[in-house]
Amino acid sequence: QFDQSSASSRGGYSTPRSVVGIGGKVAKPDYSEAKIVIAMVGLPARGKSYLSNKLMRYLKWLEYDVKVFNVGQLRRSRARQKAQESGIREDHTASYFSHENVEATKLRDKLASDSLEMLIQWLKDGGNVGILDATNSTRNRRVSVEARVARERGIVVVFIESVCDDPAVIAANVALKVSSGDPDYANTSPEEGKLDFLRRIKQYEAIYQTISEPHLSYLKIINIGSQVILNRINGYLQSRIAFYLMNLHIKPRSIFFSRHGESQFNVEGKIGGDSPLSSRGMRYARALPDLITDNIGNAPLTVWTSTLQRTIQTAQFLPCNKLTWKSLDELDAGVCDGMTYEEIEKAYPEDFANRDEDKFNYRYRGGESYRDVVVRLEPVIMELERQDNILIIGHQAILRCLYAYFHNLAQADLPYIKIPLHTVIKLTPKAYGCDEERYALPIGAVDTHRPKPGTLSKDYLVQPTGNSAREYFTDNK
Ligand code: F6P
Repeated sequence: QFDQSSASSRGGYSTPRSVVGIGGKVAKPDYSEAKIVIAMVGLPARGKSYLSNKLMRYLKWLEYDVKVFNVGQLRRSRARQKAQESGIREDHTASYFSHENVEATKLRDKLASDSLEMLIQWLKDGGNVGILDATNSTRNRRVSVEARVARERGIVVVFIESVCDDPAVIAANVALKVSSGDPDYANTSPEEGKLDFLRRIKQYEAIYQTISEPHLSYLKIINIGSQVILNRINGYLQSRIAFYLMNLHIKPRSIFFSRHGESQFNVEGKIGGDSPLSSRGMRYARALPDLITDNIGNAPLTVWTSTLQRTIQTAQFLPCNKLTWKSLDELDAGVCDGMTYEEIEKAYPEDFANRDEDKFNYRYRGGESYRDVVVRLEPVIMELERQDNILIIGHQAILRCLYAYFHNLAQADLPYIKIPLHTVIKLTPKAYGCDEERYALPIGAVDTHRPKPGTLSKDYLVQPTGNSAREYFTDNK
Protein backbone atom coordinates (compact mmCIF):
# COMPACT_ATOMS: atom_id res chain seq x y z
CA GLN A 1 0.00 0.00 0.00
CA PHE A 2 1.15 3.50 -0.63
CA ASP A 3 0.31 7.00 0.36
CA GLN A 4 -1.24 8.84 -2.54
CA SER A 5 -1.51 12.55 -2.46
CA SER A 6 -5.13 13.52 -2.73
CA ALA A 7 -6.08 15.02 -6.04
CA SER A 8 -9.50 15.72 -4.60
CA SER A 9 -10.81 17.20 -7.78
CA ARG A 10 -14.43 16.28 -8.15
CA GLY A 11 -14.48 14.65 -11.51
CA GLY A 12 -18.21 14.62 -12.16
CA TYR A 13 -19.56 11.24 -13.10
CA SER A 14 -16.36 9.42 -13.96
CA THR A 15 -16.84 6.08 -15.61
CA PRO A 16 -14.81 3.07 -14.47
CA ARG A 17 -11.38 3.09 -16.01
CA SER A 18 -9.41 0.02 -16.83
CA VAL A 19 -6.67 0.98 -14.39
CA VAL A 20 -6.67 -1.59 -11.64
CA GLY A 21 -4.60 -0.67 -8.66
CA ILE A 22 -4.70 -0.56 -4.94
CA GLY A 23 -6.16 2.32 -3.07
CA GLY A 24 -3.93 4.46 -0.93
CA LYS A 25 -3.81 4.09 2.79
CA VAL A 26 -3.33 7.48 4.41
CA ALA A 27 -0.75 7.55 7.15
CA LYS A 28 -1.61 8.92 10.57
CA PRO A 29 -0.11 12.40 10.99
CA ASP A 30 3.18 12.35 12.88
CA TYR A 31 2.62 14.20 16.13
CA SER A 32 5.49 12.53 17.97
CA GLU A 33 7.18 15.86 18.68
CA ALA A 34 4.09 17.34 20.31
CA LYS A 35 4.26 16.91 24.10
CA ILE A 36 2.28 19.22 26.31
CA VAL A 37 1.10 19.19 29.89
CA ILE A 38 -2.12 21.15 30.21
CA ALA A 39 -2.54 22.01 33.89
CA MET A 40 -6.04 23.16 34.75
CA VAL A 41 -6.44 25.94 37.32
CA GLY A 42 -9.55 27.08 39.15
CA LEU A 43 -11.93 26.68 42.05
CA PRO A 44 -14.21 23.65 42.16
CA ALA A 45 -17.40 23.95 40.05
CA ARG A 46 -15.83 26.30 37.50
CA GLY A 47 -16.02 23.92 34.55
CA LYS A 48 -12.45 22.59 34.60
CA SER A 49 -13.55 19.03 33.88
CA TYR A 50 -15.90 20.28 31.20
CA LEU A 51 -13.06 22.12 29.45
CA SER A 52 -10.69 19.16 29.91
CA ASN A 53 -13.14 16.79 28.30
CA LYS A 54 -14.06 19.11 25.45
CA LEU A 55 -10.41 19.70 24.66
CA MET A 56 -9.67 15.99 24.83
CA ARG A 57 -12.52 15.19 22.44
CA TYR A 58 -11.41 17.83 19.95
CA LEU A 59 -7.74 16.88 19.94
CA LYS A 60 -8.50 13.17 19.79
CA TRP A 61 -10.73 13.75 16.81
CA LEU A 62 -7.69 15.39 15.20
CA GLU A 63 -5.71 12.25 16.10
CA TYR A 64 -3.59 13.59 18.92
CA ASP A 65 -3.09 11.15 21.73
CA VAL A 66 -4.75 12.83 24.70
CA LYS A 67 -5.49 11.72 28.23
CA VAL A 68 -7.08 13.45 31.20
CA PHE A 69 -5.49 12.76 34.60
CA ASN A 70 -8.13 13.61 37.15
CA VAL A 71 -6.71 14.03 40.63
CA GLY A 72 -10.13 13.57 42.27
CA GLN A 73 -10.43 10.14 40.68
CA LEU A 74 -7.00 9.13 41.96
CA ARG A 75 -7.93 10.37 45.46
CA ARG A 76 -11.07 8.22 45.44
CA SER A 77 -9.45 5.13 44.03
CA ARG A 78 -6.61 5.30 46.60
CA ALA A 79 -9.13 5.81 49.40
CA ARG A 80 -11.08 2.78 48.20
CA GLN A 81 -7.93 0.69 48.16
CA LYS A 82 -7.01 1.83 51.67
CA ALA A 83 -10.49 1.00 52.91
CA GLN A 84 -10.24 -2.48 51.41
CA GLU A 85 -6.76 -3.16 52.78
CA SER A 86 -7.00 -1.66 56.24
CA GLY A 87 -10.65 -0.93 56.79
CA ILE A 88 -9.79 2.75 57.35
CA ARG A 89 -12.19 5.10 55.60
CA GLU A 90 -10.77 8.48 54.75
CA ASP A 91 -13.05 11.40 55.40
CA HIS A 92 -13.40 13.38 52.19
CA THR A 93 -15.90 15.90 53.40
CA ALA A 94 -15.11 19.61 53.23
CA SER A 95 -12.62 19.62 56.16
CA TYR A 96 -10.31 17.33 54.15
CA PHE A 97 -9.85 20.21 51.70
CA SER A 98 -8.99 22.82 54.33
CA HIS A 99 -5.44 24.22 54.16
CA GLU A 100 -5.45 24.05 57.96
CA ASN A 101 -5.77 20.27 57.78
CA VAL A 102 -2.03 19.62 57.62
CA GLU A 103 -2.20 15.86 57.18
CA ALA A 104 -4.80 15.98 54.40
CA THR A 105 -2.92 18.80 52.68
CA LYS A 106 0.16 16.54 52.54
CA LEU A 107 -1.95 13.73 51.11
CA ARG A 108 -3.46 16.04 48.53
CA ASP A 109 -0.07 17.42 47.50
CA LYS A 110 1.12 13.85 47.05
CA LEU A 111 -1.92 12.97 44.94
CA ALA A 112 -1.26 15.98 42.70
CA SER A 113 2.42 15.16 42.26
CA ASP A 114 1.70 11.46 41.67
CA SER A 115 -0.86 12.37 39.01
CA LEU A 116 1.70 14.60 37.34
CA GLU A 117 4.28 11.81 37.43
CA MET A 118 1.85 9.42 35.77
CA LEU A 119 1.03 12.05 33.20
CA ILE A 120 4.68 12.71 32.38
CA GLN A 121 5.39 9.00 32.10
CA TRP A 122 2.43 8.66 29.76
CA LEU A 123 3.80 11.51 27.59
CA LYS A 124 7.20 9.83 27.51
CA ASP A 125 5.51 6.61 26.40
CA GLY A 126 4.14 8.35 23.32
CA GLY A 127 1.24 10.56 24.44
CA ASN A 128 0.88 14.09 23.07
CA VAL A 129 -1.33 16.07 25.43
CA GLY A 130 -1.76 15.13 29.08
CA ILE A 131 -4.38 17.15 30.91
CA LEU A 132 -3.90 17.52 34.67
CA ASP A 133 -7.44 18.05 35.88
CA ALA A 134 -6.83 19.49 39.35
CA THR A 135 -7.36 22.87 41.00
CA ASN A 136 -3.69 24.00 40.91
CA SER A 137 -5.13 27.02 42.62
CA THR A 138 -2.07 28.37 44.46
CA ARG A 139 1.14 29.84 43.14
CA ASN A 140 3.11 27.26 45.10
CA ARG A 141 1.31 24.42 43.43
CA ARG A 142 1.98 25.94 40.03
CA VAL A 143 5.64 26.46 40.88
CA SER A 144 5.98 22.75 41.61
CA VAL A 145 4.21 21.75 38.39
CA GLU A 146 6.42 24.11 36.42
CA ALA A 147 9.61 22.90 38.11
CA ARG A 148 8.76 19.24 37.57
CA VAL A 149 7.93 19.67 33.88
CA ALA A 150 11.08 21.79 33.34
CA ARG A 151 13.15 18.70 34.18
CA GLU A 152 11.82 16.98 31.06
CA ARG A 153 13.30 17.86 27.68
CA GLY A 154 10.72 18.46 24.98
CA ILE A 155 7.74 18.73 27.34
CA VAL A 156 6.12 22.09 28.05
CA VAL A 157 3.35 23.12 30.39
CA VAL A 158 0.43 25.40 29.63
CA PHE A 159 -1.94 26.41 32.43
CA ILE A 160 -5.62 26.83 31.62
CA GLU A 161 -7.57 28.69 34.26
CA SER A 162 -11.34 28.76 34.30
CA VAL A 163 -12.67 31.77 36.17
CA CYS A 164 -16.40 31.91 36.62
CA ASP A 165 -18.43 34.36 38.67
CA ASP A 166 -21.79 33.66 37.08
CA PRO A 167 -23.91 32.37 40.00
CA ALA A 168 -26.21 30.44 37.66
CA VAL A 169 -23.32 28.52 36.09
CA ILE A 170 -21.75 27.78 39.47
CA ALA A 171 -25.10 26.61 40.87
CA ALA A 172 -25.61 24.37 37.84
CA ASN A 173 -22.12 22.88 38.25
CA VAL A 174 -22.69 22.28 41.96
CA ALA A 175 -26.03 20.62 41.22
CA LEU A 176 -24.41 18.46 38.55
CA LYS A 177 -21.66 17.35 40.92
CA VAL A 178 -24.05 16.20 43.64
CA SER A 179 -26.70 14.71 41.39
CA SER A 180 -24.65 12.99 38.72
CA GLY A 181 -23.64 10.03 40.84
CA ASP A 182 -20.31 11.60 41.82
CA PRO A 183 -18.76 9.07 44.24
CA ASP A 184 -17.95 11.85 46.75
CA TYR A 185 -21.67 12.28 47.30
CA ALA A 186 -22.97 8.81 46.60
CA ASN A 187 -24.05 8.29 50.21
CA THR A 188 -25.39 11.71 51.01
CA SER A 189 -28.69 13.36 50.21
CA PRO A 190 -28.55 16.03 47.47
CA GLU A 191 -29.11 18.75 50.11
CA GLU A 192 -26.29 17.54 52.36
CA GLY A 193 -24.09 17.00 49.35
CA LYS A 194 -24.68 20.52 48.12
CA LEU A 195 -23.90 22.06 51.50
CA ASP A 196 -20.71 20.06 51.82
CA PHE A 197 -19.57 20.90 48.32
CA LEU A 198 -20.20 24.62 48.93
CA ARG A 199 -18.11 24.35 52.12
CA ARG A 200 -15.38 22.66 50.11
CA ILE A 201 -15.40 25.53 47.63
CA LYS A 202 -15.00 27.96 50.54
CA GLN A 203 -11.90 26.09 51.70
CA TYR A 204 -10.35 26.59 48.29
CA GLU A 205 -11.44 30.23 48.08
CA ALA A 206 -9.48 30.93 51.28
CA ILE A 207 -6.18 30.30 49.49
CA TYR A 208 -7.01 30.65 45.80
CA GLN A 209 -4.64 32.80 43.74
CA THR A 210 -5.72 33.54 40.21
CA ILE A 211 -2.97 33.01 37.68
CA SER A 212 -0.95 36.10 36.84
CA GLU A 213 2.65 34.84 36.80
CA PRO A 214 4.01 36.66 33.75
CA HIS A 215 6.62 34.02 32.89
CA LEU A 216 4.07 31.16 32.58
CA SER A 217 2.25 30.05 29.45
CA TYR A 218 -1.42 30.34 30.25
CA LEU A 219 -4.94 30.90 29.05
CA LYS A 220 -7.39 32.46 31.43
CA ILE A 221 -10.97 31.74 30.40
CA ILE A 222 -13.52 34.02 32.03
CA ASN A 223 -17.13 32.89 32.10
CA ILE A 224 -16.62 30.41 29.25
CA GLY A 225 -17.30 32.25 26.03
CA SER A 226 -17.04 35.84 27.27
CA GLN A 227 -13.35 36.64 27.70
CA VAL A 228 -10.03 34.88 27.21
CA ILE A 229 -6.60 36.16 28.24
CA LEU A 230 -3.57 34.61 26.59
CA ASN A 231 -0.06 34.75 27.91
CA ARG A 232 3.03 33.31 26.24
CA ILE A 233 1.17 30.91 23.96
CA ASN A 234 3.72 29.60 21.48
CA GLY A 235 3.72 27.25 18.55
CA TYR A 236 1.16 25.49 16.46
CA LEU A 237 -0.48 23.09 18.91
CA GLN A 238 -0.70 25.62 21.75
CA SER A 239 -2.26 28.18 19.40
CA ARG A 240 -4.69 25.61 18.13
CA ILE A 241 -5.73 24.71 21.67
CA ALA A 242 -6.12 28.40 22.52
CA PHE A 243 -8.17 29.08 19.40
CA TYR A 244 -10.48 26.15 20.14
CA LEU A 245 -11.06 27.18 23.74
CA MET A 246 -11.71 30.77 22.65
CA ASN A 247 -14.57 29.56 20.49
CA LEU A 248 -16.45 27.59 23.14
CA HIS A 249 -19.63 28.75 24.78
CA ILE A 250 -22.10 27.06 27.11
CA LYS A 251 -25.34 28.73 26.08
CA PRO A 252 -28.06 26.14 25.59
CA ARG A 253 -28.55 25.22 21.95
CA SER A 254 -28.93 22.21 19.68
CA ILE A 255 -27.21 21.03 16.56
CA PHE A 256 -29.35 19.28 13.98
CA PHE A 257 -28.06 16.94 11.31
CA SER A 258 -30.01 15.76 8.30
CA ARG A 259 -28.83 14.13 5.14
CA HIS A 260 -30.25 15.57 1.96
CA GLY A 261 -33.49 13.99 0.77
CA GLU A 262 -33.14 10.83 -1.28
CA SER A 263 -31.31 11.65 -4.53
CA GLN A 264 -31.51 10.14 -7.99
CA PHE A 265 -28.08 8.63 -7.42
CA ASN A 266 -29.22 7.09 -4.13
CA VAL A 267 -32.06 5.38 -5.99
CA GLU A 268 -29.64 4.06 -8.62
CA GLY A 269 -27.17 2.92 -5.94
CA LYS A 270 -24.46 5.26 -7.24
CA ILE A 271 -22.08 7.12 -5.00
CA GLY A 272 -20.92 10.73 -5.21
CA GLY A 273 -21.96 12.91 -8.13
CA ASP A 274 -24.21 15.93 -8.03
CA SER A 275 -27.61 14.52 -8.86
CA PRO A 276 -30.94 16.16 -7.96
CA LEU A 277 -33.43 14.82 -5.43
CA SER A 278 -35.78 11.95 -6.30
CA SER A 279 -39.51 12.60 -5.93
CA ARG A 280 -39.39 11.09 -2.42
CA GLY A 281 -36.43 13.33 -1.64
CA MET A 282 -38.49 16.34 -2.70
CA ARG A 283 -41.29 15.22 -0.39
CA TYR A 284 -38.78 15.16 2.45
CA ALA A 285 -37.59 18.67 1.57
CA ARG A 286 -41.18 19.94 1.71
CA ALA A 287 -41.86 18.20 5.03
CA LEU A 288 -38.68 19.39 6.71
CA PRO A 289 -39.83 22.89 7.78
CA ASP A 290 -42.71 21.49 9.85
CA LEU A 291 -40.53 18.81 11.39
CA ILE A 292 -38.05 21.46 12.48
CA THR A 293 -40.69 23.89 13.79
CA ASP A 294 -42.38 21.10 15.76
CA ASN A 295 -39.13 20.25 17.45
CA ILE A 296 -37.42 23.54 18.08
CA GLY A 297 -40.33 25.93 17.89
CA ASN A 298 -39.41 29.36 16.65
CA ALA A 299 -35.89 29.56 18.07
CA PRO A 300 -33.53 31.11 15.51
CA LEU A 301 -31.93 28.52 13.29
CA THR A 302 -29.24 28.80 10.66
CA VAL A 303 -28.97 26.17 7.94
CA TRP A 304 -25.68 25.04 6.46
CA THR A 305 -25.56 23.04 3.26
CA SER A 306 -22.82 21.75 1.00
CA THR A 307 -22.37 23.15 -2.50
CA LEU A 308 -24.06 20.08 -4.02
CA GLN A 309 -27.55 20.52 -5.36
CA ARG A 310 -29.15 17.70 -3.37
CA THR A 311 -28.47 19.53 -0.09
CA ILE A 312 -29.46 22.93 -1.48
CA GLN A 313 -32.73 21.51 -2.82
CA THR A 314 -33.43 19.90 0.55
CA ALA A 315 -32.98 23.24 2.32
CA GLN A 316 -35.00 25.28 -0.16
CA PHE A 317 -38.27 25.44 1.80
CA LEU A 318 -36.72 26.30 5.15
CA PRO A 319 -37.35 29.95 6.03
CA CYS A 320 -33.91 30.39 7.64
CA ASN A 321 -30.58 32.02 6.96
CA LYS A 322 -28.55 29.65 4.83
CA LEU A 323 -24.87 29.22 4.30
CA THR A 324 -23.16 27.03 1.73
CA TRP A 325 -19.90 25.33 2.70
CA LYS A 326 -17.57 23.67 0.21
CA SER A 327 -16.08 21.82 3.18
CA LEU A 328 -19.42 20.07 3.65
CA ASP A 329 -19.32 18.42 0.20
CA GLU A 330 -19.50 14.62 0.30
CA LEU A 331 -16.34 12.52 0.55
CA ASP A 332 -14.72 12.61 -2.88
CA ALA A 333 -14.73 9.10 -4.33
CA GLY A 334 -12.19 10.05 -7.03
CA VAL A 335 -12.24 7.64 -9.98
CA CYS A 336 -15.16 5.78 -8.37
CA ASP A 337 -17.40 8.84 -8.35
CA GLY A 338 -20.71 7.96 -10.02
CA MET A 339 -20.28 4.19 -9.74
CA THR A 340 -22.25 1.64 -7.74
CA TYR A 341 -20.46 -0.43 -5.07
CA GLU A 342 -20.87 -3.48 -7.34
CA GLU A 343 -19.19 -1.65 -10.23
CA ILE A 344 -16.34 -0.55 -7.99
CA GLU A 345 -15.82 -4.10 -6.72
CA LYS A 346 -15.63 -5.34 -10.29
CA ALA A 347 -13.39 -2.59 -11.66
CA TYR A 348 -11.12 -2.15 -8.63
CA PRO A 349 -11.32 -5.36 -6.58
CA GLU A 350 -8.18 -4.64 -4.56
CA ASP A 351 -9.27 -1.13 -3.75
CA PHE A 352 -12.63 -2.44 -2.72
CA ALA A 353 -11.10 -5.01 -0.39
CA ASN A 354 -8.69 -2.44 1.04
CA ARG A 355 -11.52 -0.11 1.83
CA ASP A 356 -13.41 -2.85 3.65
CA GLU A 357 -10.23 -3.67 5.51
CA ASP A 358 -9.58 -0.18 6.81
CA LYS A 359 -12.33 2.18 5.77
CA PHE A 360 -11.21 5.18 7.83
CA ASN A 361 -7.77 5.26 6.25
CA TYR A 362 -8.60 4.15 2.73
CA ARG A 363 -8.23 6.99 0.21
CA TYR A 364 -10.05 6.64 -3.11
CA ARG A 365 -7.78 6.93 -6.11
CA GLY A 366 -7.81 10.63 -6.95
CA GLY A 367 -10.20 11.21 -4.09
CA GLU A 368 -10.38 11.25 -0.32
CA SER A 369 -10.35 9.10 2.79
CA TYR A 370 -12.44 9.61 5.90
CA ARG A 371 -9.26 10.89 7.53
CA ASP A 372 -8.97 13.57 4.81
CA VAL A 373 -12.57 14.54 5.43
CA VAL A 374 -11.98 14.96 9.17
CA VAL A 375 -9.14 17.36 8.38
CA ARG A 376 -11.24 19.44 6.03
CA LEU A 377 -14.11 19.55 8.52
CA GLU A 378 -12.02 21.10 11.28
CA PRO A 379 -13.08 24.70 10.45
CA VAL A 380 -16.69 23.52 10.41
CA ILE A 381 -16.28 22.12 13.94
CA MET A 382 -14.67 25.35 15.11
CA GLU A 383 -17.53 27.40 13.69
CA LEU A 384 -20.12 25.00 15.08
CA GLU A 385 -18.70 25.52 18.55
CA ARG A 386 -19.17 29.28 18.19
CA GLN A 387 -22.72 29.15 16.89
CA ASP A 388 -26.21 28.80 18.35
CA ASN A 389 -28.81 26.48 16.74
CA ILE A 390 -27.50 25.09 13.49
CA LEU A 391 -29.06 22.61 11.07
CA ILE A 392 -26.56 20.95 8.78
CA ILE A 393 -28.03 19.40 5.68
CA GLY A 394 -25.20 17.20 4.60
CA HIS A 395 -24.07 13.85 3.32
CA GLN A 396 -23.57 10.39 4.77
CA ALA A 397 -19.76 10.45 5.22
CA ILE A 398 -19.66 14.09 6.30
CA LEU A 399 -22.31 13.68 8.96
CA ARG A 400 -20.58 10.55 10.25
CA CYS A 401 -17.42 12.57 10.86
CA LEU A 402 -19.26 15.38 12.62
CA TYR A 403 -21.36 12.96 14.65
CA ALA A 404 -18.22 11.12 15.80
CA TYR A 405 -16.79 14.39 17.11
CA PHE A 406 -19.84 15.11 19.23
CA HIS A 407 -20.09 11.56 20.57
CA ASN A 408 -16.37 10.89 20.87
CA LEU A 409 -16.47 7.76 18.73
CA ALA A 410 -13.50 5.70 17.60
CA GLN A 411 -12.08 6.04 14.10
CA ALA A 412 -12.72 2.39 13.29
CA ASP A 413 -16.45 2.79 14.04
CA LEU A 414 -16.85 6.18 12.41
CA PRO A 415 -17.30 5.04 8.74
CA TYR A 416 -20.09 2.65 9.78
CA ILE A 417 -22.23 5.03 11.83
CA LYS A 418 -25.78 4.81 10.67
CA ILE A 419 -27.10 8.13 9.40
CA PRO A 420 -30.29 7.18 7.55
CA LEU A 421 -32.02 9.28 4.94
CA HIS A 422 -35.15 11.26 5.87
CA THR A 423 -34.18 11.52 9.52
CA VAL A 424 -33.23 14.53 11.61
CA ILE A 425 -30.73 13.94 14.40
CA LYS A 426 -30.83 16.48 17.21
CA LEU A 427 -27.75 16.76 19.42
CA THR A 428 -27.89 18.87 22.54
CA PRO A 429 -24.50 19.47 24.16
CA LYS A 430 -24.46 18.65 27.86
CA ALA A 431 -21.75 18.82 30.51
CA TYR A 432 -19.94 15.69 29.36
CA GLY A 433 -21.26 14.78 25.94
CA CYS A 434 -24.47 15.23 24.02
CA ASP A 435 -28.07 14.15 24.39
CA GLU A 436 -29.51 12.79 21.20
CA GLU A 437 -32.94 12.52 19.65
CA ARG A 438 -33.80 11.25 16.19
CA TYR A 439 -36.88 12.18 14.20
CA ALA A 440 -37.58 9.94 11.24
CA LEU A 441 -40.14 11.13 8.70
CA PRO A 442 -42.36 8.39 7.27
CA ILE A 443 -41.25 9.03 3.72
CA GLY A 444 -39.63 5.97 2.19
CA ALA A 445 -36.01 6.07 1.05
CA VAL A 446 -33.35 3.60 0.01
CA ASP A 447 -30.89 2.39 2.64
CA THR A 448 -27.42 3.52 1.54
CA HIS A 449 -25.62 2.02 4.53
CA ARG A 450 -23.19 -0.72 3.57
CA PRO A 451 -22.13 -2.77 6.59
CA LYS A 452 -18.65 -4.16 6.87
CA PRO A 453 -18.78 -7.56 5.14
CA GLY A 454 -18.21 -10.66 7.18
CA THR A 455 -18.95 -9.04 10.50
CA LEU A 456 -21.97 -9.69 12.63
CA SER A 457 -24.16 -6.64 12.74
CA LYS A 458 -23.90 -6.44 16.49
CA ASP A 459 -20.23 -5.61 16.09
CA TYR A 460 -21.42 -2.29 14.85
CA LEU A 461 -23.40 -1.45 17.89
CA VAL A 462 -21.58 1.57 19.16
CA GLN A 463 -22.20 3.10 22.51
CA PRO A 464 -21.60 6.84 22.55
CA THR A 465 -19.57 7.94 25.54
CA GLY A 466 -20.55 10.66 27.96
CA ASN A 467 -23.96 11.17 29.48
CA SER A 468 -25.92 10.32 26.41
CA ALA A 469 -26.56 6.68 27.10
CA ARG A 470 -28.29 6.26 23.77
CA GLU A 471 -27.65 3.35 21.59
CA TYR A 472 -27.54 3.59 17.91
CA PHE A 473 -27.22 0.84 15.43
CA THR A 474 -25.11 0.74 12.35
CA ASP A 475 -26.53 -2.50 11.07
CA ASN A 476 -29.28 -2.75 8.53
CA LYS A 477 -32.26 -2.72 10.85
O1 F6P B 1 -24.27 6.57 -0.99
C1 F6P B 1 -24.39 7.87 -0.57
C2 F6P B 1 -23.06 8.46 -0.20
O2 F6P B 1 -23.28 9.74 0.31
C3 F6P B 1 -22.02 8.52 -1.32
O3 F6P B 1 -22.09 9.66 -2.14
C4 F6P B 1 -20.72 8.40 -0.60
O4 F6P B 1 -19.64 8.02 -1.40
C5 F6P B 1 -21.10 7.37 0.42
O5 F6P B 1 -22.42 7.65 0.79
C6 F6P B 1 -20.23 7.38 1.64
O6 F6P B 1 -20.54 6.24 2.41
P1 F6P B 1 -19.50 5.03 2.50
O7 F6P B 1 -18.26 5.65 3.04
O8 F6P B 1 -20.15 4.08 3.45
O9 F6P B 1 -19.29 4.45 1.14
